[in-house]
Amino acid sequence: MSPYETLLREANDRPFAAIVGWPVEHSRSPALHGFWLKQHGISGHYGRLPVEPKRAALEELIAFLKRTPNARGCNLTLPHKIDIMPLLDRIDPLARHIGAVNTVIKQPDGTLEGRNSDGFGFLEALKQGAPGWQAAAGPATVLGAGGAARAVVATLVAAGVPELRLVNRTQKSAIDLGVAFTPSDGRRIAVERWDERDAALDGATLLVNTTSLGMKGQPPLEIDVGRLPANAVVDDIVYVPLETPLLAAARARGQRCIDGLDMLLHQGRLGFEAWFGQKVAVSREQRRAVAADLGA
Ligand SMILES: NC(=O)c1ccc[n+]([C@@H]2O[C@H](COP(=O)([O-])OP(=O)(O)OC[C@H]3O[C@@H](n4cnc5c(N)ncnc54)[C@H](OP(=O)(O)O)[C@@H]3O)[C@@H](O)[C@H]2O)c1
Repeated sequence: MSPYETLLREANDRPFAAIVGWPVEHSRSPALHGFWLKQHGISGHYGRLPVEPKRAALEELIAFLKRTPNARGCNLTLPHKIDIMPLLDRIDPLARHIGAVNTVIKQPDGTLEGRNSDGFGFLEALKQGAPGWQAAAGPATVLGAGGAARAVVATLVAAGVPELRLVNRTQKSAIDLGVAFTPSDGRRIAVERWDERDAALDGATLLVNTTSLGMKGQPPLEIDVGRLPANAVVDDIVYVPLETPLLAAARARGQRCIDGLDMLLHQGRLGFEAWFGQKVAVSREQRRAVAADLGA
């Protein structure tokens, strides 16, 4: 049975969406959307769809979404977030600005619109985890210049951080990202060298790790959080494990910490609400359910 047939069989004539990636088995998205479907008693399904990183495979996905009446859209994870873009009928301006799509929504006329909810999820998690945090209060330091960094940097600039410091192992990527996202109002994106990342923390009110360092199977992120002010917020968007060595070090110093799971949960709201027509909130119960799924 093909993955499409499996998905249709699981959906069993109900409206459905799915996470699309290669590989896709590790994704926790079915757990987080499944929680909301159950919580709100919605007759719907959210599944997994492995799609190879080939243009023909993505074209097959688009054709499937368009011809299947119950298909409401999908989420996209690695490696499809950029390659899907030319195949969609419309990209919303924020996703175009970020340069990646992680959510596809089928419109009433059957056309497909691409959006990016990573920045939304990041900011909602930040507001929830550090209620008094003010973008305008001081510099923010972002580590990394990959796909997630683009959404985080775009969001922090739009939120009004007065100065953004960007640090990446490959400095050229940070420079390119800095050029792409520098606002026209005179605020700066300063690119710092990777081996000088400790100094990039002096006086910063927010540190965000968007590198994969600290993730299961990766080396820990080595950085001296003691250089941050005591009231700084440390946000690690890695979510496997939930408590990365970076967050453990920051927590031991009494700094406010935000892990990657809340960003993951909040980014899911945008797609769910559009696909299933139900407003949803992130709750402790959902967090517990998805954290348990992560541990499984
Ligand atoms: N919580 C959420 O909802 C959420 C959403 C998206 C992503 N994430 C997480 O964010 C992380 C990054 O994802 P992504 O999609 O941005 O990945 P990506 O595009 O592959 O970028 C990876 C980044 O990590 C850096 N990096 C990798 N290995 C390194 C090393 N050994 N030393 C220093 N830097 C290193 C890369 O630097 P170079 O440029 O030098 O290679 C790059 O900046 C992953 O852990 C992912 O799970 C979380």
